[in-house]
Amino acid sequence: MQGIHQPKREEVLKLPRVHISSHPVMEHKMTALRDKTTQPPDFYRLVKEIGALLAYEATASLTLQECDIETPLKPMRGRRLAGGIGITPILRAGLGLAEGFREVISDAQIWHLGLRRDERTLQAQEYYNQLPHQVNLQVCYAVDPMLATGGSAIDAVNILKRRGIDRISYVGIIAAPYGLLKLSQTHPDIDIYVAALDEELNELGYIVPGLGDAGDRQFGTL
Ligand code: URA
Repeated sequence: MQGIHQPKREEVLKLPRVHISSHPVMEHKMTALRDKTTQPPDFYRLVKEIGALLAYEATASLTLQECDIETPLKPMRGRRLAGGIGITPILRAGLGLAEGFREVISDAQIWHLGLRRDERTLQAQEYYNQLPHQVNLQVCYAVDPMLATGGSAIDAVNILKRRGIDRISYVGIIAAPYGLLKLSQTHPDIDIYVAALDEELNELGYIVPGLGDAGDRQFGTL
C-alpha cells in the first residue's frame, strides 16, 4: 500500500453508521483469535462465536411485526421479525462468520457469493453466485472477516443492490481505517459492524496488527 494515503484511526472513528464493538467478551475472544498460536479448529470456532456476537449487535435495530400466539396458559400478542433475513458470506473467509450468524438467526437465507478481482481491469468477477432471483428480505448482511482495502465489500454491496436489496449491512471482524473509509464513502446508506478497528495496511495489503490470513487460518491452508 505504498504511495496510498491511509487515514488514521481517529479520522474514521466518527463516521456515521459505523459500529465498533466494545463488549469485554468480544475483546477476550478477539485476543485469542489474533494470537498466532491459535490453531485452525479453535480459530474457526472463535470466528463463529464472534459472528454470533456481531449478529446480536447488528440485528438490534431490526423491525418487528405483531402476531397472535397462544402460550400453554392463554392467548397473547407476540412480535416476530418482519420479513426474511439474508446472509451473504463472501467466499471463502466469510463462511465461519455466516455460521455464527446462523446460530442467532437460524432461519436466515444464506446467499453465497464468490468474488475474484481481475488484476487487469480491477473489476470484480463473480465466480460463484447463489443469490436468488425472488428477493423479499428485510435486510441482507454481507459478511467477510477482514475489511482491508474495501474492494470486495464494495463489490458485494454493488451486486446486492443490483439484485434489488435496499437494506444492506456489512459485518466484519477487523477493519483497517482505509477500507472502512472507502466502504463508508462509496455506500453511505449501509451500516457497518466490526469487532475491532486496527491501525493500518502493510505493503501487502494485510491489516496490522490484524490476525494474518483469515481464510487460511480458518481452513488450515497455511
Ligand atoms: N485478508 C486477510 O485475510 N487478512 C488481512 O489482513 C487482509 C485481508
